[in-house]
Amino acid sequence: MPEFSLTPDQESLRDLARKFARTEMAPHAAECDRTARFPEEIYRKAYDLGLMNLNVPTEFGGSGLGLFEQCLIVEELAYGCAGMTTSIIANCLALEPILLGGSPEQRRRFLTPFCASYQLASFALTEPSGGSDAGAIRTRARRDGDAYVLEGEKCFITNAPHASLYTVFATVDPERKHKGIAAFVVPRSAKGVSPGKDEEKMGHRASSTGTVRFEGVRVPAEDRLGEEGDGFSIAMRTLDQTRTPIGALATGIAQAALDLAAAYSLKRETFGKPISEHQAIQIKLANMAQAVHAARLLTWHAAWTIDHGGKGTLESSIAKCFASDAALDVADEAIQTFGGYGYMKEYPVEKLLRDAKLTQIYEGANEIQRTVIARELLRAYQ
Ligand code: CAA
Repeated sequence: MPEFSLTPDQESLRDLARKFARTEMAPHAAECDRTARFPEEIYRKAYDLGLMNLNVPTEFGGSGLGLFEQCLIVEELAYGCAGMTTSIIANCLALEPILLGGSPEQRRRFLTPFCASYQLASFALTEPSGGSDAGAIRTRARRDGDAYVLEGEKCFITNAPHASLYTVFATVDPERKHKGIAAFVVPRSAKGVSPGKDEEKMGHRASSTGTVRFEGVRVPAEDRLGEEGDGFSIAMRTLDQTRTPIGALATGIAQAALDLAAAYSLKRETFGKPISEHQAIQIKLANMAQAVHAARLLTWHAAWTIDHGGKGTLESSIAKCFASDAALDVADEAIQTFGGYGYMKEYPVEKLLRDAKLTQIYEGANEIQRTVIARELLRAYQ
């Protein structure tokens, strides 16, 4: 990392996201968490401010930001509400396969109309039979003349019930495992596409997660991204890009937990003095601060690596894994600092713990991140 200071442009992006998170998102976070409301009016405002299609080049109507700038924004948004942030950044995940695997003509054809107005897209990889073994997906794509016919079901798909576009991974030949997977762009309006119900979740309750069924969906061959066997590589390269912002999202949760705990410790008195003067609490705050700083720096490093042309497989898995584990630990310690109050829904810290938990699971469970890290690491010793 050559520099730790931000450029004026980066500072203004961060400030824009900070202001949006604190004035538009945070005031509605508790209510959306309680009622599991999907606050579409907030997502529309995020779109209007250019906080949504962050990774899409400006020539197609996106914000055209590097991963580092995306991470600055995502951390700030997550400080306001992690669930809303998940829904806001899901377009980046869903559109990345088109950026990585699409031809110039496909990028123009899909991205330009999509980004011209507020719309949501979903990345449809995970299936009910298992999410970690992405090479074993069962959704079938059978060639039929100049089209494919898609048959199968996806689950745990962010924004699925609200999306107008899906990037779908399906196998043309299950025998060929990952080498048989192809990626397709499928509009919600295609006959046979049926999003299912919104799942009831522990955290990230302002975001929407659901199933999508594909029943005899005809997809023109010209809407396949890359060649037939390219789908797995497109999915993996997409996740290399998008796991880093999950590190930023987790850092935002952790920073919020630290700030709440530190502020509370200065006000709350026990044994005749503020609890911030008790060494037990100071040690907690010091450990929390270390975790937040390390999570941010690992995330920045992963983003910097990818922005400078590195593949980033190792760095993004390290950032995502470390920051999400840190977010859970820091939120846990924040609750402990609040004591009994921290366990109550009336206070904001228990939400942070529930939100942090998902960051250890989605975009590849942390067990998968550790597998990726070990494989990448061992390569250097072979
Ligand atoms: N970039 C490019 N190619 C890659 C790659 C990468 N990062 N990782 C693997 N590959 C290639 C390999 O080079 C190999 O290619 P060859 O066949 O040509 O040699 C091929 O892919 C197979 O690789 P592996 O043998 O490593 O594959 P594997 O079956 O052992 O599994 C895995 C790899 C890392 C475990 C993968 O299955 C994985 O990442 N699983 C987790 C999936 C995931 O993250 N799902 C989250 C979905 S998004 C979400 O959470 C929902 C949401 O809406 C937020």
